[in-house]
Amino acid sequence: MENPPHYMFLKGIPLLPNFHKEELMAKLQDEVEFQDKDVILVTYPKSGTHWMIDILSLIYSKGDPTWVKSASSWKRSPWIEHLNSLEVIKTKADPRLFTSHLPIHLFPKSDFISKAKVIYVARNPKDVLVSFYNFVHELPIFQSFSNFYGLPSLLPNSLLVLYGSWFDHVKGWLPLNDSKNFLFLTYEELHQDLKVSVEKICQFLDKDLSEEEISSVIENASFQVMKNHMLENNEAIIRENVEPFKVMVLRKGICGEWKNYFTVTQMETFNNIYQENMKGLGQNLFPWDQC
Ligand code: A3P
Repeated sequence: MENPPHYMFLKGIPLLPNFHKEELMAKLQDEVEFQDKDVILVTYPKSGTHWMIDILSLIYSKGDPTWVKSASSWKRSPWIEHLNSLEVIKTKADPRLFTSHLPIHLFPKSDFISKAKVIYVARNPKDVLVSFYNFVHELPIFQSFSNFYGLPSLLPNSLLVLYGSWFDHVKGWLPLNDSKNFLFLTYEELHQDLKVSVEKICQFLDKDLSEEEISSVIENASFQVMKNHMLENNEAIIRENVEPFKVMVLRKGICGEWKNYFTVTQMETFNNIYQENMKGLGQNLFPWDQC
């Protein structure tokens, strides 16, 4: 299959040149040093990144929504792989929250896991696919990919998407699950019981919140309240050679929407790809294995 026209490839991973400069990525791998107090959220795109950024921001502000209301997620927890991030990583004030969609082999090489804490959020890949599919159709930056991203064509070629294969992403990060500085969560468990998840995150981050503060985190991280905050905060993203655009991240926010999109054949094809790629990995880790 031919490469889509606007990707740049770095160590086999398709990235967008308007967002990821090759020079930055090299420096990122070799020069970045995280600090003990840093918290890095890692996700494959469309897995609930913004949801977790708000949860973390609210935990750090003890449930007070002022910060999530007044600053975009990009400011509160900048993506380390985006332009100007080297300076941002060096100088960011507390709380030092960062975000990344990078697969582990493109991540800074320094011994970050012994210092910073990493939270990895995964989501049912079928719902990731549907979310991605809807997202890219709205963005001018992706419009030339719209045929490529069409659901029927994406399925058999699901390895060639932005940030690379979902399977490699999850399997690359998962071995860190044994480290005490790594927390693996799923979008589905946030949905199932946000309070339990927030308590787990607080424990991981050594944050002691009162019942009232936890209730406020939960309330302000709800889909509807986040949607309102985001409408207030949503800044246009400006990149060279691209019309400024805004992202609409909160769309449906449900589990299992893939059932409305996949045909039986697509589901069977995907399930085969999934079984082949995830062979031998702990079944209990992934709630979607059951559905
Ligand atoms: P859908 O497109 O399925 O609605 P990301 O932040 O990684 O780009 O992920 C976006 C997905 O997370 C979107 O999924 C969005 O609706 C969902 N999401 C964001 N905030 C949420 C929340 N508070 N509750 C449930 N889902 C949320």
